[in-house]
Amino acid sequence: MCGIVAYKGKKVCFPILLNGLKKLEYRGYDSAGVACLMNNKIHITKRAGKVKELENAINNKQSSKNCGGLGIAHTRWATHGEPNQKNAHPHVDASKKITLVHNGIIENYDPIKKFLKSKKIKFKSDTDTEVLVQLIGYFYKDGKLDFEKSVRAALQRVDGAYAIVVLNADFPDMMIAARKGSPLVLGLKDNEFFIGSDVSPIIKHTQQITYLNDSEMAVINGDGYEIKSVDKDVSLPKKVEKIDYKIDDFDKGKFQYFMHKEIHEQVDTILNTLKGRSTKSSVLLHGLSEYWEEINVAEKIYITACGTSWHAGLIGKNLIERFAEVPVHVEYASEFRYNHSIMDNKTVVIAISQSGETADTLAAIAKANDFGAITIGICNVPGSSVSRETKCGIHTRCGHEIGVASTKAFTAQISVLYLLALKLADSKKKITSHVLKKHLNMSGYEKSAVGLNPYGTKAIKSLLRKEKSINKMAQKYKNASDFLYLGRGLNFPIALEGALKLKEISYIHAEGYPAAEMKHGPIALVDKNMPNVFIVPKDKTYDKIISNIEEIKSRKGKIIIITDSKDKILRDLADDLILIPKTNQYLFVILATIALQLFSYFIAVAKGCDVDQPRNLAKSVTVE
Ligand code: F6R
Repeated sequence: MCGIVAYKGKKVCFPILLNGLKKLEYRGYDSAGVACLMNNKIHITKRAGKVKELENAINNKQSSKNCGGLGIAHTRWATHGEPNQKNAHPHVDASKKITLVHNGIIENYDPIKKFLKSKKIKFKSDTDTEVLVQLIGYFYKDGKLDFEKSVRAALQRVDGAYAIVVLNADFPDMMIAARKGSPLVLGLKDNEFFIGSDVSPIIKHTQQITYLNDSEMAVINGDGYEIKSVDKDVSLPKKVEKIDYKIDDFDKGKFQYFMHKEIHEQVDTILNTLKGRSTKSSVLLHGLSEYWEEINVAEKIYITACGTSWHAGLIGKNLIERFAEVPVHVEYASEFRYNHSIMDNKTVVIAISQSGETADTLAAIAKANDFGAITIGICNVPGSSVSRETKCGIHTRCGHEIGVASTKAFTAQISVLYLLALKLADSKKKITSHVLKKHLNMSGYEKSAVGLNPYGTKAIKSLLRKEKSINKMAQKYKNASDFLYLGRGLNFPIALEGALKLKEISYIHAEGYPAAEMKHGPIALVDKNMPNVFIVPKDKTYDKIISNIEEIKSRKGKIIIITDSKDKILRDLADDLILIPKTNQYLFVILATIALQLFSYFIAVAKGCDVDQPRNLAKSVTVE
């Protein structure tokens, strides 16, 4: 939610900042701006719309070539105030000496604004952010406090979440960054400093990274830097890490959209996630070993997450209850954080998050930690807040996910949950070693290096080869205004996920339902224009789902079937059918997901939607 990039060094800053903003645009894209320090003055350029608008504006300015080596930039996802130029960041204080970019929400902006107004400070925007920069300016004015102390004093008075970078025209060799609740990463290279909301704008320049923790500030001065506490003026030790993201992760390659690239990457990302995490007869989850004894005897498990990650949680519940026979409750993190959940040190709380920065998920983790629960993170971003704030965890190894609609992270999350369910079942002796071995060595598919590939690379590749026919189908349905997605058991969450993917990127209304539940209400929506997507594995639910299809068919609804069965009855019932390779019920879930991801993707492209940056959305939701 909002992307921040900043640079201090000897190079001209604008190209670095603009390039960085393009990498961060997935976090928000309703307006963008940059500020640099030239001749002891702050120069700001802002535009409503995408980074491209800002780039054009900058390229038309002669002065931008001499913009110097100190600058901050921002791409916005509006929280307070319309997405227009006035509300775009960076914002300045009344003296126009101090400028700041911000990601987060200042919750107590109203009383602070009233206070500042009582001091005759005039506001130019409708944002909460301007309140913060004006407050810093208020403390700095007339030499009340020095620059660093002014930033600290202001931060100590705000509630809510922030990641900020601040410049002061009186300190042309200084930059201050701070965070609480929103992520911020510092990249180090000789005498250059890079700051980003994540590593994507930094990785091209350096792999030496330090992650700021909550309530920490980085004070960069001259050629040196110090990490300090926001709460008091003390230095803190800092660990510099070498990160190994591939630059490829940030390029679309031959694909038109990141989402399409990321759908295709699932051939590798699932395997990467599984690699080294099992032998032929046991599951190895080293990230949990320190807490395994407690996890193994836990009496209750909560899974908490948002959006797509929550859908993965529903599959996790099914698998853990099925194999390990432990009750699992799945809760939206935004509800869990305020619910009266009953937890203690015999409770496991699994938080699932692609980004590792979702505000509600982090609040849910904090609550679980307060109760003494064993918190497990399933997260795609090493070093992220979820990774750091859970007691133990398992990383999905998908690389950077840039398309706003989550794809490869979801299938990797399911893979991890599958392993976790098996490991728990094995530890609790709820499955025999024979059954475990069967799961770990599903036959008929390419064997991975570890002998575990139930997710059959071959099957995924073969499905991806069919994408032309899925595209053809998408053209046929692109003008529908509503869809129903229906599945049972493990495939009910896939119906939810299929519907969510369609909604977010094509703006077509879609609902996911358990296939049999449909007749308790949603069936009233069905008419000859309504496509109904049925997910139909050839398993014990098969006959029941066929009855559900008949119910819709007899009301003239259009029937789209995703199945691994070649049965004639399905062909007769379907208006359209996607045949996925025959595998097993666990891999079916992954394959059906990929088919639905492609279906939504092609509909969105056919409708001319901006697939990677759908309206109103942002990749990581770092506000409540
Ligand atoms: C949907 C989507 C969102 C996220 C949700 C949680 O395609 O991307 O629903 O799944 O915002 O995000 P993470 O997993 O980063 O916590």
